[in-house]
Amino acid sequence: MCGIFGIVTKETQNLGPILIGAGERLSYRGYDTVGAATLPQEGKIDLRKDAGKVQQVAEKYNFKEMSGDRAILQLRWATFGAPSQINSQPHLDSDGDLVGAHNGNVVNNLELMAEFKAEGMVVRSENDGESCVHAVERYYDQGHDMVEAIRMATKDLEGDYSFVIGKVGDDRLYAIKKGSGLVAGVTEDMVCIGSDLPSILPITRRILRLYDGEIITFWAGGYEITSVEDGSTIERLPEISEETMEIAQKGGYPHFMLKEIHEQSHVAGELLHLLDNSPDVDPFIEKLKNARDIYVIACGTSYHAGLLGSVYFNKFTGRAAIPVLAPQFAAQYGNSVGAEDVGIFISQSGETKDVLNAIEIARERGMGVLGLVNVVGSTLMLVSDVHLPLVCGFEISVPATKTYLNQVLALLYVALRWGEHDTKALNKIPELIDLVIEKSEEQMAPVVEKVKDWDDLYSLGYGLTYPVALEGALKFKEITYAHCEGILSTEFKHGPLSAVYEGYPVIFTAGPDDIPLIVSGINEVSCRGGHVIAIGLEDSRLEGNASQTLVIPNLDLPENLQAAALALLSAIPLQLLSYHCSLAKGFDPDFPRNLSKTLTVD
Ligand code: M6R
Repeated sequence: MCGIFGIVTKETQNLGPILIGAGERLSYRGYDTVGAATLPQEGKIDLRKDAGKVQQVAEKYNFKEMSGDRAILQLRWATFGAPSQINSQPHLDSDGDLVGAHNGNVVNNLELMAEFKAEGMVVRSENDGESCVHAVERYYDQGHDMVEAIRMATKDLEGDYSFVIGKVGDDRLYAIKKGSGLVAGVTEDMVCIGSDLPSILPITRRILRLYDGEIITFWAGGYEITSVEDGSTIERLPEISEETMEIAQKGGYPHFMLKEIHEQSHVAGELLHLLDNSPDVDPFIEKLKNARDIYVIACGTSYHAGLLGSVYFNKFTGRAAIPVLAPQFAAQYGNSVGAEDVGIFISQSGETKDVLNAIEIARERGMGVLGLVNVVGSTLMLVSDVHLPLVCGFEISVPATKTYLNQVLALLYVALRWGEHDTKALNKIPELIDLVIEKSEEQMAPVVEKVKDWDDLYSLGYGLTYPVALEGALKFKEITYAHCEGILSTEFKHGPLSAVYEGYPVIFTAGPDDIPLIVSGINEVSCRGGHVIAIGLEDSRLEGNASQTLVIPNLDLPENLQAAALALLSAIPLQLLSYHCSLAKGFDPDFPRNLSKTLTVD
């Protein structure tokens, strides 16, 4: 995820403070590199950019003094190309009179870069934002006007993105939306665009919504929207936005947690694009293949993702991966591991002290360190031999949701690719995520009604759904403050069954291959008066035996992926159940008491 901003004003003026302000508001979207450009009528584009956070780069390159009547700003969350000055955006075209910046992923970037070089263009970076600029240059230099050149460029640029571009000697900027966020703000003296509403709201409340497949040409006080598909003009007037900054930051959702749950399909799509094109996946797998023993090391939610990953590895590669809670690594394996072994260290923040302590031990013993991490530039990313980024953008809510889902998806992808199974079917996952969210919400209210007043309950799963049950229990504890224990369903009869009495809630998450076993567990609870909620695919055996069900819609996926995908998706109703129970109890799910998003203490 990155952030873009562009502005055209009536008079030449000091645009620096406006650019810095927009950059600060977009800083949650990317803080690897920052760049700004102002475009003159004649002469050279003033381009200032570097690796670093907005405040650092703005100060180092004195953004404050930048002036003009047209400017572009970009903040980057690195995916294609290291976070360096050369890979920072905006980018220039070959002769330096076009400048542009993007947000999103151009998935055929490598092929395009090779084509541009072969056509004699000057390619300076590895970053896919530069491909957007050269794709426009390609058609502009053939004599097409800017809008037409952008329309033609979209045929070459595969992936989801939005970008803004302008040229010397023009009085306009141009921006396109194709799968990534883009809104415009319009006043009599100025038009601006940004990746999200909060980047614009302090400048104006006159907001113009833009939709996928639209190009906006904008100049001081005016704009035109063009359809990419047929080149026709689209009439649309700005609206006055009533949203507060706080609501806008939450994208209209009442809580960051709900926003982040709904972002899961988008970030899953971004992750799959990235993994398909990342040069790091093969080295990551190579290290695993060559290892004597593989450990999966993490805490909390990230540990649950790792536990599920180890089941995927066993299923799709026939190799064992030993899951271990990071603080237990020293005691259990500290003296036994060595240079032949490899650890996959998983952390959203990349700064969890318990995880960093385990890495220190791994390093002392000469072990290989692989990272699965969301925050780019974090310690885990820096100390890993190879890392795969989770590309979830900023996760603000303390309960991890979208980062968990992408951790699981990344591990599933690695397991499939390592086991030489097809990964293409995973491209259905983003739309399935949206379907599961929708279906879960439809069914949720009566289940919340039954569960919300209980301060003690269980969440059970088996095989692939055992880690999901643990994750569901953690989410429930974290934001409802109830005690919810996650265990293997078959262990319930070995002790915890004694807790059950009339109405006592027990949640079973059922994989499609384990229904008979889960049904016997369900009956052990329900015949003692317990209230069973079953989560799984539509199945008369679950519906006939459980008190209530949260049905996952049928998965249009190959047979060998059904159970693995069900495990990934079944976390969603559990996330939503926790969220709604937290609200029903009057708590703020985003900031649960006593907890912190990043635990940098022992
Ligand atoms: O940043 P990390 O993934 O290393 O954090 C690990 C745990 O602290 C974290 O997953 C925690 O359990 C979540 N807040 C749970 O939602």
